[in-house]
Amino acid sequence: MPKKYRIETFGCQMNVHDSERMAGLLDRAGYEPATSDRDADVIVINTCSVREHAEAKLYTRLGQIRVLGQETGKAPVVAVAGCVAQQEGHSLLARTNGRVIDVVVGTQQVKMLPMLLDRAAHSAHSEVNTDSRDDVGFPLGVARRSDPVKAYVTIIEGCNDHCAFCVVPHTRGHERMRSKSDILAEVQEAADSGAREVQLLGQIVNHYQAPDDHLCDFAELLKRVNAICGIERIRFASPHPRHTGIRLIEAIRDLPKVCKHIHLPLQSGSSRVLRTMRRRHTAEEYLKLVNRIREAIPNVTLSTDIIIGFPGETSEDFNQTLSLVEEVRYHSVFSFKYSVRPNTLASQRLPDDISADEKTARIVALQSLQRKIQLELHGQLVGTTLGVLVDQASKRHDGEVAGRTTGNTIVNFPIPQGGKPEDWIGRTVRVTIKRAGPNSLRGEAMGTEVR
Ligand code: 5AD
Repeated sequence: MPKKYRIETFGCQMNVHDSERMAGLLDRAGYEPATSDRDADVIVINTCSVREHAEAKLYTRLGQIRVLGQETGKAPVVAVAGCVAQQEGHSLLARTNGRVIDVVVGTQQVKMLPMLLDRAAHSAHSEVNTDSRDDVGFPLGVARRSDPVKAYVTIIEGCNDHCAFCVVPHTRGHERMRSKSDILAEVQEAADSGAREVQLLGQIVNHYQAPDDHLCDFAELLKRVNAICGIERIRFASPHPRHTGIRLIEAIRDLPKVCKHIHLPLQSGSSRVLRTMRRRHTAEEYLKLVNRIREAIPNVTLSTDIIIGFPGETSEDFNQTLSLVEEVRYHSVFSFKYSVRPNTLASQRLPDDISADEKTARIVALQSLQRKIQLELHGQLVGTTLGVLVDQASKRHDGEVAGRTTGNTIVNFPIPQGGKPEDWIGRTVRVTIKRAGPNSLRGEAMGTEVR
């Protein structure tokens, strides 16, 4: 009987994609996907440590798996992968009290997972491999894509920026660029296997410089990806405001497949806080950039990440964040309470001095402002007809499907003439918007497909 595996993923798209790679490796090694925890011989937990809350989920899951093992009398092999694995290494074993974890596999050792599982199965002690090295290659066609429509393609691993709050340089290593030829081959392969959208991934995607072509920066890479047949939409996450120049803005404007949506992390609307965060841009520069982008691409939508309660953030600093959010009018904002992360500059030098209550009050204020803005922006779309790339059956309503506009807004609509969701997934449909909520839109299919 083939062994069965389950992979649970926490965190960012990078982690989702690493899980796709691990699933592909395990398929090749003769494992099969399990349908539940009880059914699984192997459970891989792909962890996130970007914020304290994300890290805590690992310990909760390990506890649940231990209880399940006691109930069923059959303990699955447990592997911890991802950023917590990289960060904690051997000390994870001590923290979790011995042999609850069989394998710890770091972010740069994904390829070793099947071997480590095999070794752990024949050994009395746990296997740990968190070596860091420069290898950015991954065999083509092995990743088992989890989304029928969207393919993730890594272009850069790691980061050299060392923003004061951020654990990523410690968990994913220094910045390494993948070769242009590997990236384009992977996009082509994704297109050939049915993907309609490609999402290029890196900590700072617009820092891209091809190691195998000195003329290929990120704008040029977009142009090359745009030329690949079968791909209809290109997205990327995330660019840094500091590297967003006119060449890139014009590429986004001019390349028809590049979605007119930019996720542009702000982190704070106060230049003073941005300086202590070591973001290397001011609020004024950020606003100027937003204006430049909007002048070039009037229909662009913007989204962002904001940290509230960073050490030393005064109410005046926070008010500046609120003003900037009012001024930019983002289509969505991901907001986070600051949490101390190991090995970061802030953890060493800046006391976490904003109280938990104050952080809560500020995040609530930010989120309610953003909700109001989103409702207004979505309301303006009622009556318009937009191209929607359908990516799934609706979770809430039978007979409905959901997809995204080029601006990244979710649209739900009923399937016309009682068709099946599967027939619509992967199609770009013209949808007339009938109703707007803060998080999504509802519409009616016009039946004509956009190509
Ligand atoms: N505390 C809170 N939020 C953080 N982020 C990164 N590090 C921290 C931290 N220590 C947020 C940033 C980043 C997003 C992915 O997570 O906003 O852009």
